Amino acid sequence: MANNTTSRRVFLQAGLLGTATLLGACGKKEEAAAPAAPAASESTAATPAAPAKVYVVGTDAAYAPFESQNEKGEIVGFDIDIVSAIAAKAGVQVKFVNTPWEGIFNAVAQGDRDLLVSAITITDERKQSMDFTAPYFDAVQLIAVRKDSKVTKFEDLKPLKVGVQTGTTGDEVVTKLLGKNSAAIKRFESTPLALKELESGGVDAVVADNGVIAHYVTNNAGAGFKTVSDPSFTPEQYGIAVRKGNTAVLEMLNQGLAGIRADGTYDRIYAKYFGSAPATAGTPASAASK
Ligand code: ARG
Repeated sequence: MANNTTSRRVFLQAGLLGTATLLGACGKKEEAAAPAAPAASESTAATPAAPAKVYVVGTDAAYAPFESQNEKGEIVGFDIDIVSAIAAKAGVQVKFVNTPWEGIFNAVAQGDRDLLVSAITITDERKQSMDFTAPYFDAVQLIAVRKDSKVTKFEDLKPLKVGVQTGTTGDEVVTKLLGKNSAAIKRFESTPLALKELESGGVDAVVADNGVIAHYVTNNAGAGFKTVSDPSFTPEQYGIAVRKGNTAVLEMLNQGLAGIRADGTYDRIYAKYFGSAPATAGTPASAASK
């Protein structure tokens, strides 16, 4: 099993809210986290001790294996385990809230979310409006096409209809190839919607992060897709985002991330989702993401 931090995670569901209660590795019981007082309501003023802050984490939970909702509606995935492990290291509690990609950056800017973990690629443009932790995952774009497709490289998409998730780095590369005003770019709210459209023939290809495309193709054999990689795609790295200038939370996350890398937790989580320890995850942030 992954580790004791993930096994101590408790999810409480309230609509789209996924709540992960995290305790340190000290073997306390879950109940210890909640005051014995009537658990009813907002009447926190009456409780003796100030309630511990729960960090609200925004994630667009339609991006397996990084974040998705299971049959019970719980938010699960690699990103969830990573942030849960970081929180356990830091001794804080986190609550995951499903947050549509469109508007996710606003949510952290306005303080509706304390942090975002959503397979977010660190880009220079995004760094102007938010702060990122050190990179925690390497990614690259990947093309999905139907098995009978003639596409063998990114350029081949030029005369075709291409599906992307709006505002992602996949959207950016396709926009560059086809032109800003191209009617051949079909933008979707989520990546699974774009992939459904590929299956039904509404688009000829979908471009998104390799981990997500590969996961989908493997787990939806009936869709009849294959993948096409291209050396022109530049390496990307995921970071956890906080509101610009929120150094307190940023520091906590960076320290926790360094901690779970050092103690083997990161590698265990990585192996749980991707089968083996990462080749490059232990390497320091590349110059590219500076
Ligand atoms: N890595 C890509 C980006 O940052 C896609 C991320 C989409 N994440 C998600 N949970 N839908 O643009």
